[in-house]
Amino acid sequence: SPSVDVTVFSTYEALSQAAAAHVQSVLARALNEQDRCALALAGGSTPRRLYEHLAHADLPWERVHLFWGDERFVPHDDPKSNVQLVRETLLADLAIPADNVHPMPTAGTPEAAASTYAAHLQRQFADQAHTFDCALLGLGSDGHTASLFPEHNPLTTDPKQVRAVTAPARHDVKQRLTCTLPVFNRSRQALFLVSGEAKRGAVRAVLDENDASLPATHISPREHLAWFLDTSARPQPNAHDL
Ligand code: 6PG
Repeated sequence: SPSVDVTVFSTYEALSQAAAAHVQSVLARALNEQDRCALALAGGSTPRRLYEHLAHADLPWERVHLFWGDERFVPHDDPKSNVQLVRETLLADLAIPADNVHPMPTAGTPEAAASTYAAHLQRQFADQAHTFDCALLGLGSDGHTASLFPEHNPLTTDPKQVRAVTAPARHDVKQRLTCTLPVFNRSRQALFLVSGEAKRGAVRAVLDENDASLPATHISPREHLAWFLDTSARPQPNAHDL
């Protein structure tokens, strides 16, 4: 099982800057051993500032490949698209070859798109034991991560790599595509980026109670799992900028 570390930051900005530096160092280290590396991107709102910082990271971007951990089944230029989030932040000013950017398809039917992306991941990672060198993940207040929801009881043994799922009623975009737990758990490292009071209960349930009913509890990459939290998500009496 992976080594785990939890770091609490006093602001969202400090969290985001540190996360960008962490991702840069993970990818740089991977590129010392591999000719290319793979980063899986998270959606939602929390990673926005991280992406803005990461755009300025000094990396050989022509050797970095971007994948998505999940996607809303909307056009890529839809404001709710996880591709759109990355286009307007990380990719806004970054010269990265188009072939290095691997968005989840959102045309046709969700089921066909899911199997297309699964086949794509299969080809991309066929000759290596691990999938992503770093998988970015967010956390929902209900303990979901990517688009793996507690109601669906996702399996760590799921035979599928990518699934088309319908998010539970409370979520804004119903139709989703998501990588499954085996894909995330074949990553070398994963990084949870969590900010805000609304996440405090889910953070405690996963980190302190190890609640097996929550998908985030079952994220277990091969080497290292990092949790980057701000004090509103994980109050610490003497929180300070780390
Ligand atoms: C998505 C994300 C999802 C997100 C959490 C947290 O597609 O929405 O992948 O898993 O990380 O819902 O979202 P916020 O960062 O907006 O709180």
